[in-house]
Amino acid sequence: MRSLCYLGTAAILGFAAHAFGADELMTSAQALFKPIPASPPALPGNPGTPAKVELGKMLYFDPRLSASHAISCNSCHNVGLAGADAEQTSIGHKWQRGDRNAPTVLTRPCSRTHRRRSRYSTTLRNIALTAPYFHTGRSWDLRQAVAVMGTSQLGAQLSAEETDNIVAFLGALAGEQPEISYPILPPSVAATPRPQP
Ligand code: HEC
Repeated sequence: MRSLCYLGTAAILGFAAHAFGADELMTSAQALFKPIPASPPALPGNPGTPAKVELGKMLYFDPRLSASHAISCNSCHNVGLAGADAEQTSIGHKWQRGDRNAPTVLTRPCSRTHRRRSRYSTTLRNIALTAPYFHTGRSWDLRQAVAVMGTSQLGAQLSAEETDNIVAFLGALAGEQPEISYPILPPSVAATPRPQP
């Protein structure tokens, strides 16, 4: 089931590159893709409870998790930016710039066990909302990213029309974004470690 959440880049480009009719394309797509499940898969030995989810949400937004007290998960995986940071590569502690583009966290429950595979096949849901692309974030343009995937993954030069069609398809994968209310975090106390510069 989980693998069905995955929109394998090669699979998409593969069938889109063949000149299928619209009905045939829809039938092939429905065989490959299923809606993302409404609830995440259970974690073995760690049953989810509303209290754990609420605590996790507070930790996600709490910058005091970082040494500087300035960076939270949401700094790089901003839920107002479809779970990414709109930076080529993320900025971390002491304004150091890393060498990796922060991927969206919004589709993560679907690919939890595919951590390594995710290096090679991209989760394409909401992809139109999470530029720039690739782990180096070097491509800011979805059209260009699709063309690069065509040559590097399929060994094929996609025509302008094929590229446009794939980009239109990817645009249609943008889901409704969740409304997330900001949690009220507990105040720091005397025992709370002071922020490190
Ligand atoms: C300073 C920026 C930064 C912060 C802060 C940060 N992340 Fe990330 N995150 C990244 C980058 C960059 C990657 C990609 C790493 C890679 O490709 O090796 C990543 C990857 C991930 C992934 C894997 C996504 C995938 O596609 O496999 C998850 C899940 C995640 N982060 C969750 C979190 C959570 C939860 C927190 C807070 C505890 C957090 N991140 C804090 C930058 C950040």
